[in-house]
Amino acid sequence: MASPKIDVRTASAASSDLITFLTQGALLPAGVTAEEFDASSGTTVLLRNKEHRTLVVGLGEKSKIELDTIRRASGTALKQLLKLGCREVAIDLTAYPDQVGPAVEGALLAAYKFEGFGKPAGKPPRGVLSRLQVLVKEADLAKARAEVREAEIVGNIINTIRGIGNLPGNMLTPAILAEKVEELAGERRLTVKVWNERHLKRDGFGGILGVGQGSVHPPRLIVIEYRGGGKGEAPVALVGKAITFDTGGISIKPGAQMDEMKWDKMGGLSVLGIMLAAADLKLPLNLVALIPSAENMPGPDAYRPGDILTTRDGKTIEVLNTDAEGRIILVDAIAHARLTYKPSAIIEFSTLTGAVIMALGHRRAGLFTSEAKLRDALLAAAKTTGEMVWPMPIDDEYKEAVQSEVATAKNTSFREGSACSSASFIKLWAENVPFVHIDIAGTAWTTKPPAHLETGATGFGIRLTLAALRAGLKP
Ligand code: BES
Ligand code: MN
Ligand code: ZN
Repeated sequence: MASPKIDVRTASAASSDLITFLTQGALLPAGVTAEEFDASSGTTVLLRNKEHRTLVVGLGEKSKIELDTIRRASGTALKQLLKLGCREVAIDLTAYPDQVGPAVEGALLAAYKFEGFGKPAGKPPRGVLSRLQVLVKEADLAKARAEVREAEIVGNIINTIRGIGNLPGNMLTPAILAEKVEELAGERRLTVKVWNERHLKRDGFGGILGVGQGSVHPPRLIVIEYRGGGKGEAPVALVGKAITFDTGGISIKPGAQMDEMKWDKMGGLSVLGIMLAAADLKLPLNLVALIPSAENMPGPDAYRPGDILTTRDGKTIEVLNTDAEGRIILVDAIAHARLTYKPSAIIEFSTLTGAVIMALGHRRAGLFTSEAKLRDALLAAAKTTGEMVWPMPIDDEYKEAVQSEVATAKNTSFREGSACSSASFIKLWAENVPFVHIDIAGTAWTTKPPAHLETGATGFGIRLTLAALRAGLKP
């Protein structure tokens, strides 16, 4: 999908369809009655004059406006205008000079649509946004331009990630993912290293190999390095699960909604998005991303319940359920991060458990860490970005659940509290490195999109982590 051209100008120069914002209690536009439009959050009213249309979108009560309110409102409004066939849209931000970034982000994210393959029968085509004008006061021009530039970088990267994320399992195998990473990183100052099957064997990645061995599409480990900080400064390691399709393997999943498991790669893709944005924004810090990728399939050579796998650091896993595959590939990558990069912290993203969806639903991701500073930094970032998380426990009380008679740990346990015991399984491999696990199983994609989004991958975690990193996240 081509990204729209964005420019910033003063209000007088607008000449296209327009989005304006209104808080509750503010004066309604001429001709609109209070019955038609009450300006509660996310409501809209369409006004027509001769040359163009104006879509007024409500922000709700002024005192309740959060940083994410405008982001969503501008997305909701833009999507409505696109449905009407608009291609060029202006956003009036003269009254909201401090919200230019979120408004543009919201509009860009709302403009994204997975193009799919072939024409869907019986569906009217939707407008594609070709140009976005941001209207501000003369005095705010310079600041707005800087904010727009950053929002444009981040918004377009998130849409790129959603585009890759929405590719089905037959079109995105671990090898193809690695190629895409090389392509995207190659355009930037990022170093990419890819382990194929032979390299994974050579270096003892028994977890990634075990999970991947049932598929004819062999696994990969993708590592991306970014150096924007001091030479001797320890990097923050970002680790993301990228299962290109999760059938469950021999412990096969039921058929209903199994197609959604094409999104089981979103942790890895979010991590990729963070790296691309860090490079484009030239963040002054060192980062390393590790993306283990495999397809979890049953097959003649698939790993089986009872198998014992040895990870990169010599620890072992007793496999009790081949559908708990994410944690297996993740700990192999985490061991590598710890041994090779001596990171100051490890932040790991994964669509890890159905249990976290039972606990928190689809609006908040589970934030598992025992590091107070990292937790507070991410909670603060969640507030400003609208990518919400909720603190969940990961303390030693859960270790018992994954204790094995024959290996370092077993990969499944009883169902009660399993979002937490899964997290504590992974933490064993981080050893004493400050560790954060973010379970995005409920937030990485949507099948019931809110008014500002489309069905599919959301890119959850990219804005959250960038905000935390920019605020100087430190353990
Ligand atoms: N990818 C799934 C988790 C998942 C399920 C994400 C539903 C989003 C929606 C993961 O690999 C998985 O299968 N987890 C199992 C673990 C169980 C076998 C211990 C689960 O949560 O049911
Ligand atoms: Mn699984
Ligand atoms: Zn999975």
